[in-house]
Amino acid sequence: MSKITTLDQFIVKKQADFAFAGGELSQLLSSIQLASKIVSREVNKAGLAHHILGSAGKENVQGEDQQNLDVFADDQFIAAFKAQGEVCGVASEENDHFIAFDEETCQNGKYVILIDPLDGSSNIDVNVSIGTIFSIYRRITPVGTKAQKEDFLQPGIRQVVAGYVIYGSSTMLVYTTGAGVNGFTFDLSIGVFCLSHPNMQIPVQGKIYSVNEGNFHAFTNEGVREYIRWCQSVNPNEGKKPYTARYIGSLVADFHRNLIKGGVYLYPATQNAPEGKLRLNYECNPMAFLIEQAGGKATDGKRRIMEITPGELHERVPLIIGSKEMVEDVENRMNQHAEVSA
Ligand code: AHG
Ligand code: MN
Ligand code: MN
Repeated sequence: MSKITTLDQFIVKKQADFAFAGGELSQLLSSIQLASKIVSREVNKAGLAHHILGSAGKENVQGEDQQNLDVFADDQFIAAFKAQGEVCGVASEENDHFIAFDEETCQNGKYVILIDPLDGSSNIDVNVSIGTIFSIYRRITPVGTKAQKEDFLQPGIRQVVAGYVIYGSSTMLVYTTGAGVNGFTFDLSIGVFCLSHPNMQIPVQGKIYSVNEGNFHAFTNEGVREYIRWCQSVNPNEGKKPYTARYIGSLVADFHRNLIKGGVYLYPATQNAPEGKLRLNYECNPMAFLIEQAGGKATDGKRRIMEITPGELHERVPLIIGSKEMVEDVENRMNQHAEVSA
């Protein structure tokens, strides 16, 4: 029998990689594991359970339709963090304001969590991969007090852990503590995450570009269109098209594929979304931390994503992320053109 390493065993083995304390990392990830197993179970039976499918009939703070599973996932993750004591507050894409835990035990927590509990919600009803994205920071305010807004508005370079769970053909948890990226596949038969993708590295150059091409005419930077046209064109040296398009519409799934195969994901600014669509705190920063740890890059076209200081919890930012050389190519083309809005 081949040797299995579970996520819990791996954390113990790699204690020294976490700058703070191995026990704390293990506690934080155990909450994430627990909630993601529960969400994974619900995702797998979503086709059967009518209360899970479909809209919850209310909108989140960004005016988007909230799906039942969004609300379910949000509740599960928040409850798991609250139950445990390492976390003093959670900011979630699904809630207008951050939640500062009241309980005395929680106020002693040293960490805050920023989370997109259910990413790719438009894909829930159609049996396509969705995910959860999380980001963990040390709090700035004193331990023993209630978490404050500034604890949640730190630049991405201060992240201590980031990762995602993908609910795909299998469920996987991928995370970094700043010492490489490792991926764990959920083995349903024994109920544990097992190391399946050690030390993940993204190829410096890939063949996949991922962008919602329906927005082609709405992009505000001509450099983006130029890059896409170039991806579509036949390379005269090779006599064939060097790139192929792949776009799922769940950031987690598009990112995961490109991380493994090499590629670039773009969600640039559009006429209707001049800041882009994706959220700096819940989506872009954690993915940027992961991609840099895997040898790739993440930019908004001008700035390294992780160096942007967020002004607001739900702030959006354009995102170009993936294989280093591909991201640099997009960035160079974008920098040759000025942004043009309507
Ligand atoms: P969420 O479901 O958390 O709101 O995120 C959806 C995001 C992201 O997952 C995806 O890449 C992007 O929206 C897709 O947007 P378009 O449908 O505009 O392409
Ligand atoms: Mn999302
Ligand atoms: Mn979401």
